[in-house]
Order: sequence, then structure tokens, then C-alpha cells
Amino acid sequence: MMGFKLVSNIFLVVLFVSAIYAQNALASYKCDTSKCLPPSCRCATLSPPVASPPQFVLLTFDDTIAEDVYATALSLLKDRKNPNGCPALATFYAQVFYTNPSLAQQWRAAGHEIADHSVTHTSPFAGSFAELEGMRAYYTTYAGISRGQISGVRFPFRNYTLAGIERVAKMNFTYDSSMASSDAEAIWPYTLDYGVVTDCNAIENICGQTVNAKGLWELPMAQSGEHLMDSMNDPTVTAPISTSEAVTIMTNSFNLRYKGNRAPYGVYLHPVWYGKAQPPTIPNGTGKLAAINSLLTNLMSNPDVWMVTGQQVIEYMKNPVSAADLQKQSYMQCPTLPTGICNGLTPSLAVSCSLPNGTISSCFGCPSSYPSLDNPSPSRTDNTRCLVPDTCSGVYWDPIGCKCLCTDASCAYKDNSRKINLDESSLNPTNTNTSTNSTKSTSQETSTSRSSGSDLA
Ligand SMILES: *[C@@H]1O[C@H](CO)[C@@H](O)[C@H](O)[C@H]1NC(C)=O
Ligand SMILES: *[C@@H]1O[C@H](CO)[C@@H](O)[C@H](O)[C@H]1NC(C)=O
Ligand SMILES: *[C@@H]1O[C@H](CO)[C@@H](O)[C@H](O)[C@H]1NC(C)=O
Ligand SMILES: *[C@@H]1O[C@H](CO)[C@@H](O)[C@H](O)[C@H]1NC(C)=O
Ligand SMILES: *[C@@H]1O[C@H](CO)[C@@H](O)[C@H](O)[C@H]1NC(C)=O
Ligand SMILES: *[C@@H]1O[C@H](CO)[C@@H](O)[C@H](O)[C@H]1NC(C)=O
Ligand SMILES: [Zn+2]
Repeated sequence: MMGFKLVSNIFLVVLFVSAIYAQNALASYKCDTSKCLPPSCRCATLSPPVASPPQFVLLTFDDTIAEDVYATALSLLKDRKNPNGCPALATFYAQVFYTNPSLAQQWRAAGHEIADHSVTHTSPFAGSFAELEGMRAYYTTYAGISRGQISGVRFPFRNYTLAGIERVAKMNFTYDSSMASSDAEAIWPYTLDYGVVTDCNAIENICGQTVNAKGLWELPMAQSGEHLMDSMNDPTVTAPISTSEAVTIMTNSFNLRYKGNRAPYGVYLHPVWYGKAQPPTIPNGTGKLAAINSLLTNLMSNPDVWMVTGQQVIEYMKNPVSAADLQKQSYMQCPTLPTGICNGLTPSLAVSCSLPNGTISSCFGCPSSYPSLDNPSPSRTDNTRCLVPDTCSGVYWDPIGCKCLCTDASCAYKDNSRKINLDESSLNPTNTNTSTNSTKSTSQETSTSRSSGSDLA
């Protein structure tokens, strides 16, 4: 299963290598800069939003969050600090299949981001409503992540479609990060109100078309030379480039931006390729991991370089400031790690769940069956643990004591995001079913089956 997925991923990487750059799209793009203003709108442009902006680096991981993969991801972050002394942060575009929810919760509790990367990650198309909503349902219940904090999407295989992008906007996600942006056209993040200018040849000829995705941010993926994800390639690719070649290409690509328009740069990895050999007949990823580690250390040694989450970049774009003023922004403050709750920092409080497909652990009890696309968030076998309510951020929620550990305004949180509803017709504004029966006690089981059409908070 895993092997199949990797092979498909390679396919897509290869498919996207010959990107047609966005010059033409930008030339024919029309966006009214007097009307399209932050925080809700931003025209696509090569120009930085302010003079002397910071240089953002996005380190992202895709797919499953399992023990070995998690350790690989953490090894790239260990002790890395931003200019304000706070830990460097990263984004995990996470799927449901094979993921251990307590690790996802631990990731989130350390201040990193979890974004939506479907339930199954399988072809023919894993960017459907059921896939994206099912991921929200599972992570909010079993990983205790406030649903409003799952605000980004990366389409599996980066296989987005026009309809898929429009659906993501309708689902009230804040941003998509599936489209590539070349060295020659290093586009800053923009909203899709006036259409798409990035990755014009991908999947569908999306550039120049009307896109009904007002207010949805696109956080383009910076393409390093001809390479986008896992620049050193999976070792099963017949002619992988060497680690030194990859590091040179990536450093050059970073420098183009850092010494140029400072559009965000990114290092996009499938951590499964940097750990033990998959399949065992090929070299393991130790050497590649060391190369990425030293690359990141070099990038971060430059002044004004910040390693941040996708959400932090979007917060920045809504109210951009100069590099000198970045450390004052609320979204750049160091994450405060609550203690004494089952947020993954005390993993022994998680319940171990033996399921036919393997063992997972969760602080919220065990699912009665392995999650599937039809039933992504199965009911719990035991309801004694309390689910995260709308009035408390998941990182502050104590599911055993059933209380919010945040007691002052600095950590107050109210989840205003769209309620989870596995019935796609709930996206239709004329369907009043969306908002009914939505507020439920957190101390009760709130998962219901898909057929009931009610919430899965
Ligand atoms: C990409 O999506 C299209 C549908 O838009 C589908 O036909 C194709 O199989 C998908 N490819 C992958 C690798 O998922
Ligand atoms: C990876 O391969 C190297 C060189 O073959 C070896 O020394 C190392 O022990 C291996 N590491 C793992 C985690 O398998
Ligand atoms: C879990 O096991 C069931 C029953 O064998 C199988 O149908 C399903 O595809 C498995 N799911 C995953 C994600 O492996
Ligand atoms: C969309 O998300 C924003 C930010 O979380 C929230 O304020 C708004 O109420 C949401 N809208 C819907 C329809 O859920
Ligand atoms: C929704 O709420 C109404 C009134 O509060 C109640 O009569 C109805 O049974 C609820 N439906 C579901 C599916 O919970
Ligand atoms: C609203 O929900 C009920 C019960 O879940 C369902 O029978 C009905 O078709 C839904 N209405 C719409 C407009 O989707
Ligand atoms: Zn993926």
C-alpha cells in the first residue's frame, strides 16, 4: 500500500518538473489593486508586500504521521531557532491512513501546524469533499486539534482541479498550498479572487479561467530549479541527483529569493524517504537527511530568515510588516506548552488502540473501527474522555479533567470555523441543515454516522 503511494508520488513529481512558467499568466492577469487589499484580498505579484520583508522558509512534510516518519521530521527541527529565539516551526500536510493521532497532537502542541491532506491519499482523486472533510473529522476527534486550526490544504499528489480549489474555498479553508512557483516567477502568496497565475499547465489549464474562490489564499510552493518536492528524488528513480547537486540547486533557488523579491522559499519533503530504506533493497535516507539538515542550517544562518508554518505566512500576508517588526507580531510569539494534560507531551495518558490495521494511540479513546472514507471518524468505544469544545484551543484542552487549561485572554480561543458535516450538500448556503444541531456538549460522544447527516465534531 505504502509502496504504491510512493510510486504514484514520484510520478507526479516527474510530471510537474517541466513547469511552464507563469510569465504569460501574469501578463494577462487582471487584478484591481485598489479594490483587492489585505487582509481579505491580495493580487498575485512578484513585488514584496512591504519594503525589507523577512525571508520565510517553509519546511513541510507530507502524508502519514507514524513513529519513524515523525522522528525523521523532528530530527530536522531539533534546536533550530528563529531570530526571536522561538523554535522554528513546520507544517505537516497529514493524511488519516496510517497516522497515529497522538503524534499529530504532539506535533500541534509544540506549535507546529497540521494541514489537510485527505483521508486515504489514493487515486483516482483524493481531493474530494469526503476526503478533506473526513480528515477534519478524524483529527478533531482523535488528535484533539481544534477544527478551525486545520486551515490549510495540500491536494494529494498535488492533484488539484479547478472544481477542487473552488470547493476548498467553499469549505472555508484559509489557504491551499499545492501550486508550484518557479525561480523565474517567484510569486508571493495571493488570494484567488482574480484567478490563478501559478502552475499554469498543471492538471487543468487553470490560469486565465474564472475561479470562484474569493478570499482563498494560494501559498505557492517554491520550485528549486526543476525540482519541487524531495529534490534528491526517491532512490527508486533511475537517475536521482546527488545530495551535493541538490543542495547547490536549492541554495541557489533560496538565494534568488533572499537576494531578490524575498518570496517565501520552501523545502518540501516526504519524510518517509529520509528514514529507513523503502524498499529495503535501496540505500536508506541517512545521507539525504544529513544534507537537508545542513542546507537548513545554512539558510537559517542568514539574517532575517524565519522558519514558519503556512498559517504564519498567511497571517503575515494579511498585515505585512518589515523584517524588523516581525518579532512583535502576535503570531510570531513562542508557543506556550501546557503541561499535565494528554496533549502528547505526556504520551502515557494516551490510550493504545489495537485495530485490525495496526496499533494507534489517542488521548480521546479508541475508534470502534479503523477510519475509512465512508466512516472517517468512527464512534469511540469509550466516551469517558472529553472532546475539544469550541471554546478552548485544542492545545489547552484537558480531555481527562474535561476542562480548559487556558485561563486568561492571552490563550483564549473561540472556534468559529465551519462545523464538521460529512454531507456535502451542507456546503450549499440554502441548506439550513449546516448550522442546526451544531453545538453539542463536549463531554458526550458527538460522532455520528455519516448517514445521519449531523455533525461530527
Ligand atoms: C488526478 O485527478 C484526476 C481527476 O481530476 C484523476 O483522473 C487522476 O487519476 C488523479 N491522479 C492521481 C494521481 O490521483
Ligand atoms: C543507513 O545506511 C548507512 C550506510 O549504508 C549505514 O551506515 C546506516 O547504519 C544506515 N542507517 C539506518 C538507520 O539504517
Ligand atoms: C484496514 O483493514 C480493512 C480490513 O482488512 C481493509 O478493508 C482496509 O482497507 C484497511 N485500511 C487500511 C488503511 O489499510
Ligand atoms: C470561516 O472561517 C472564519 C475564520 O475561522 C470564521 O470567522 C467564519 O465564521 C467561517 N465561516 C463559516 C461559514 O464557517
Ligand atoms: C436537532 O435539533 C432539534 C431541535 O433541537 C431536534 O428536534 C432534532 O432531533 C435534532 N436532530 C438531530 C439529528 O440531532
Ligand atoms: C436535511 O437533513 C435531513 C435529515 O438529515 C435530510 O433528510 C434532508 O434531506 C436534509 N435537507 C437538505 C436540503 O439537504
Ligand atoms: Zn501526499
